[in-house]
Amino acid sequence: MELKDIDLSDSRNFVDGVPHHWFAYLRRECPVQWHLDPNGQAEGFWSVTRHEDCVNVNRDYEHFSSARAATLFTDMDPENLASLQLMMLNMDPPMHTRYRRLVSKGFTPRMIRDLGEKVVTATDQIIDGVCETGSADFVEQISAELPLQVIADLMGVPQSDRHLVFDWSNHMIGSEDPEFQVSPESSTQASMELYAYADQLCEKKRLDPHEDLFSVLTQAEIEGDSLSQLELDLFFLLLAVAGNETTRNLISGAMAAFFDNPDQWDRLLADRSLLPSAIEEMLRFVTPVMHFRRQATMDWAIGDQKISEGDKVVFWHTSANRDESVFGETADKFDIGRTPNNHIAFGGGGPHFCLGANLARMEIKVMFERLLDRVPDIRQSGEVQHLQSNFINGVKHLPVAFTPSAPVTP
Ligand code: HEM
Repeated sequence: MELKDIDLSDSRNFVDGVPHHWFAYLRRECPVQWHLDPNGQAEGFWSVTRHEDCVNVNRDYEHFSSARAATLFTDMDPENLASLQLMMLNMDPPMHTRYRRLVSKGFTPRMIRDLGEKVVTATDQIIDGVCETGSADFVEQISAELPLQVIADLMGVPQSDRHLVFDWSNHMIGSEDPEFQVSPESSTQASMELYAYADQLCEKKRLDPHEDLFSVLTQAEIEGDSLSQLELDLFFLLLAVAGNETTRNLISGAMAAFFDNPDQWDRLLADRSLLPSAIEEMLRFVTPVMHFRRQATMDWAIGDQKISEGDKVVFWHTSANRDESVFGETADKFDIGRTPNNHIAFGGGGPHFCLGANLARMEIKVMFERLLDRVPDIRQSGEVQHLQSNFINGVKHLPVAFTPSAPVTP
């Protein structure tokens, strides 16, 4: 293999799964690589693949900005960039700090705990939907539903509207995968509908507040500061996307990893005390969000490599999480007992560290507990199909079979 054979900018190279052999080569031979980008506005980008360098870029917001060019791989035109910069993911401190303090008010550990019971019932109802037939598309019928129901509850969206919100956010984000290709017109239409919906929801919460996040956020105030309606709309969109795609693909990707490593499934069936370390290993091994992007604010360096002001920098969580210098010779193995497990699936500890990490962990825990209890002999019954994307490590379809059983919820 040669460096010129590696193209991480083309999503088609991820359609058979993450090209981990490329990342291993880059970590070894060229950990901060100047990568040409034939489709981008910029000539190229720095591709950062070692754990230590990814963590440094993630934490060093003064030299690597989330706001300057936003955090997505694609270069934005000025109009789109300006609206993306109103989303917290694409802000730098001190603006980000103010925003995060306000939204954290509605994201308390108590709120997550209170959701716990609902998550167990929702998971049982989802499994009830397939348990009598003995087969399912694991993605469509099992892993997609739970994050969707949880995020609707968290935000205060009635369950009857959850698919509407999900469809709008999917359309807005679009996808390079031909199965989900959407036109620019339908994206614009979807964004208008979603913002109108968020406006109405906030108005309802102002008049009749409950315990949910948007009731809290419409009232949230710190030192006389509060969120504008546009900021609320954008947070609504961010949550609809960030809370869904990530958790769904973690659950699907982890199930596929267990099918490839049946000894690890048996190990977990025999010893449930391994669940906490198994969850961290699922996060490391799958890494649903494969990269984020930053822009250099001044001439600087990553390791020994000089970087110029304005350069595009892409750091790969998916590569950091297989770095042999951190995870040893078994970095490529799925080992549910792995400790320590210093993965960066939720970010490398910088200011944007995933706000939903504990909620996601709780959803994953409940889902796998109930699967182990209710469909212990679950097995793969057809081919796994991956999403065509270099951003989200996604599974589109995963046919499964198991011994049929009776539903458990009334
Ligand atoms: C397995 C599931 C999940 C994964 C792998 C994941 C991953 C990530 C990553 C990598 C980031 C960026 C961190 C950084 O740049 O330092 C992030 C940010 C974020 N995540 Fe998650 N996430 C997950 C679930 C969730 C859920 C369930 C929610 C909400 C309910 C959520 C809400 C957010 C928000 C709001 C941010 C932006 C935080 C900020 O900009 O300060 N995530 N997530």
